[in-house]
Amino acid sequence: MSIILLKLFHYLAIVFSGGVLVGGGLIQAVYTRANQVPDINVSKVLKILGYLGLASLLVLWITGILLSNLIYGGFSINTAFSIKIIAAAFLLILSFIVNIHVYNSSKNNQPPNKSIMKMATMSGRGLIIVVLLGAAIAFS
Ligand code: HEM
Repeated sequence: MSIILLKLFHYLAIVFSGGVLVGGGLIQAVYTRANQVPDINVSKVLKILGYLGLASLLVLWITGILLSNLIYGGFSINTAFSIKIIAAAFLLILSFIVNIHVYNSSKNNQPPNKSIMKMATMSGRGLIIVVLLGAAIAFS
């Protein structure tokens, strides 16, 4: 039962983190293309999306660690799984950095740095593909 619940939360968190990457990325792309800075309300949405992304990554880590221990007795599962958790670790670090950057810029009443946000969105997309590919290979 606990394994089923952990898997459910692992999958729910995947939906949330993916939604944040796609939704947040799209909002940023539309504003960048229009050469505009998001207004105060859209900035608020982006900030909340950032927190949601970080929270869902933390849920992925907590449920993932518990699942690895319960089902496989640890983290030495296979190479694809190791690659998956290394990419997931980079994703978590990236999410921390972006959230701190967005928090600091909103505190200083400034929009987040465009290049940092673009780089972060692009790396985030790449990393999530590596994680998903790793999961697909590891558990096939
Ligand atoms: C961005 C982060 C993550 C994503 C997108 C992700 C994605 C996935 C996906 C799609 C599956 C299903 C694979 C399948 O059953 O065929 C899965 C399963 C699993 N994940 Fe994650 N995961 C993430 C982070 C983690 C972390 C950090 C850990 C461990 C520290 C972890 C441990 C596991 C385990 C053990 C399973 C397999 C459960 C089973 O045997 O059914 N995951 N993950």
